[in-house]
Amino acid sequence: METDKTVNESSSSAAPSRESSVLWAGRLAEKPEAEAFAFQASIRVDRRLVFDDIAGSRSHVMMLGKQGIIPAETAGLLDGELARIAEELAAGKLDVDGEAEDIHSFIEALLTRRLGDAGRMVHAGRSRNDQVALDFRLYLKRALALIRDEIAETLRVLLNLAEAHTETVMPGYTHLQRAQPVTLGHWICAWASGLERDSSRLTDARKRLDECPLGSGALAGSTLPLDREETARSLGFARPTLNSMDSVADRDFAIELAADCAIIATHLSRFCEDIVIWASEEFGFIDLAESWSTGSSIMPQKKNPDFAELIRGKQARTAGNLMTLLSLLKGLPYAYDKDLQEDKEALFDSLDTVRNCLRMFRGMMGSARFNVTRMAAACIGGFLEATDAAEYLVRKGMPFRKAHETAARIVRDCIEAGQKRIGDRSLEQLKDCSALFENDIYKALEPINCVRARGLPGGPAPVEVRCQIDVLRGHI
Ligand code: ARG
Repeated sequence: METDKTVNESSSSAAPSRESSVLWAGRLAEKPEAEAFAFQASIRVDRRLVFDDIAGSRSHVMMLGKQGIIPAETAGLLDGELARIAEELAAGKLDVDGEAEDIHSFIEALLTRRLGDAGRMVHAGRSRNDQVALDFRLYLKRALALIRDEIAETLRVLLNLAEAHTETVMPGYTHLQRAQPVTLGHWICAWASGLERDSSRLTDARKRLDECPLGSGALAGSTLPLDREETARSLGFARPTLNSMDSVADRDFAIELAADCAIIATHLSRFCEDIVIWASEEFGFIDLAESWSTGSSIMPQKKNPDFAELIRGKQARTAGNLMTLLSLLKGLPYAYDKDLQEDKEALFDSLDTVRNCLRMFRGMMGSARFNVTRMAAACIGGFLEATDAAEYLVRKGMPFRKAHETAARIVRDCIEAGQKRIGDRSLEQLKDCSALFENDIYKALEPINCVRARGLPGGPAPVEVRCQIDVLRGHI
């Protein structure tokens, strides 16, 4: 993903300008028409694998040299030229040829143009099938680390907010109806818990990415004495893949990452839905920074939470990309099929989307202000303290079902009398419902005390939320 910025775009795909860039021209007398060639070319998408392709080729040629498959000097020459190509690309002195068929053909053609016969030796014992599987895995290992970093940064922002708001009471909801008092810190820790699991899912997926397919060839390895352990080691993989057909045929690692991305995007979409609701005039819990809001072209008064809405909407892409990959793999005959070329665009889009969404979400949250007075005020009037009243009676020995009925009756009495909270009833009125009520009920039903009394592990009590923050910080 970051390679995009360093590789310059060049002209769009058309018929190949140089014969040498088509690796299979020897077999077929007739060339495809320009439009057909462009249809099957993948350079537009796989150009971002360029540095991974070069890394893979460097490891491959050095191994070919060590094994005596090509002369050692030729291996050194090829390795040096590949390093130069990478430098030139990074410095913007060389562009990826947008007319090449794919990134693999581009690099091999370039080597051949620069080094002649030495360039023609690079593909010994290799196929684009194991090459692309390798490049993809190398790229994904890097991309995955970048997303984990974005999650960690986002968690830092969220947990600082949570820490500042462990005593900020607000209504918690079920069915979007006021349910029980919580704190903003508790709510944010709920979000953070999901993101932390997202990060651990990526760590887990990395294990399955960490096998090197190089040496699998087109599907059945090679008759040449390749050293698969050596290339796997030099490219930083834990081990070579077990089976050469599986290596070129499967993309379960891509499906898995697309699912991981879709889960992250689903989490973000829910957090953003909360934000959109909170930003409404009716709630007024959050005031998004002006720089993280947009206006309306017609309604002069508008300040819209577009960023939150768009992050919410981007989830659709990631869900679609996951479906694309599942459908792509379904029913494909073993081993490699050209269908697999469609894998990268979908997953690249999910990775880019999730990375951008995390960055935007973080910026939006870091600059937002919370209206703690509105939040506290919203705890009054919805009888969020009703469960606390019932549990008060349970603590005094009343069976829960009876306590529930008693509290419900008090709520009905309040509504009839136009009272906003259970604490508005006199002790006499309360005692009419149950003799177990004493003066201490009034303190117990204050929202902050309802929250403080919920000190079970995982609960909203400030001391408990501070523990949750510590645990989550420990995972960053
Ligand atoms: N562009 C191809 C892909 O992304 C590379 C492998 C092509 N192999 C082949 N035999 N046509 O899958």
